[in-house]
Amino acid sequence: MQKELNFWEEQMDLLAQQDYVIIDNFFNAEKLNAAHHFFNQKQEEGEFKKAAIGAAGTEKIIREIRGDYTYWLERGRDIELQPIFEVLDEVKSVFNRLLFLSLADYEFHLAHYPQGSFYKKHLDQFEGRKNRMISVIIYLNKGWKTGDGGELRIFPEGEEPMDIAPLENRCIMFRSDTLFHEVLTSNTSRKSITGWMLYQPAVLPYIVL
Ligand code: OGA
Ligand code: NI
Repeated sequence: MQKELNFWEEQMDLLAQQDYVIIDNFFNAEKLNAAHHFFNQKQEEGEFKKAAIGAAGTEKIIREIRGDYTYWLERGRDIELQPIFEVLDEVKSVFNRLLFLSLADYEFHLAHYPQGSFYKKHLDQFEGRKNRMISVIIYLNKGWKTGDGGELRIFPEGEEPMDIAPLENRCIMFRSDTLFHEVLTSNTSRKSITGWMLYQPAVLPYIVL
């Protein structure tokens, strides 16, 4: 376990109450380092691909909705990320035990938002992707400061929208079916590990996004 049980109990209570929870200092130093290293390596290798959207749109439509580039993770291939997968396993089992969810799997990608890109307001669960239950994002933006942009704006029901700075090693988890959110225009390069806890096993995330 990376974190104590009572820590997780508190976080799950918050998530149940407000549909989201923010956890700072999410990874320990070794895991954070592994994440940065792997991200930079995949970027250098040119492995990121333009992200798609649910209903297969044209390039232009996609660009008006989201401007990020992604690299889908695969446990068997991306062995350098083993320490990260262990944390994701822990998160999945915590959800199942404490929130009585029946999560079967998860799917994650690295996401890079180049300067000037954004992701318009949306839900992560939609027709065609009904099995996404909880969205989990961990930011990797060293030295992020006001003005860098790329905040995550969330729209909790019946409350004012709230902007969350994409600070390095900050994790946000939220309900994929109810919490509307958007990524504000990033004025710098913005990095994250983003994914979803799934009700059913992941099937070809490359084809149906
Ligand atoms: C997404 C998304 C938010 C973020 O990939 O669906 O909403 O802060 N990402 O990166
Ligand atoms: Ni989203």
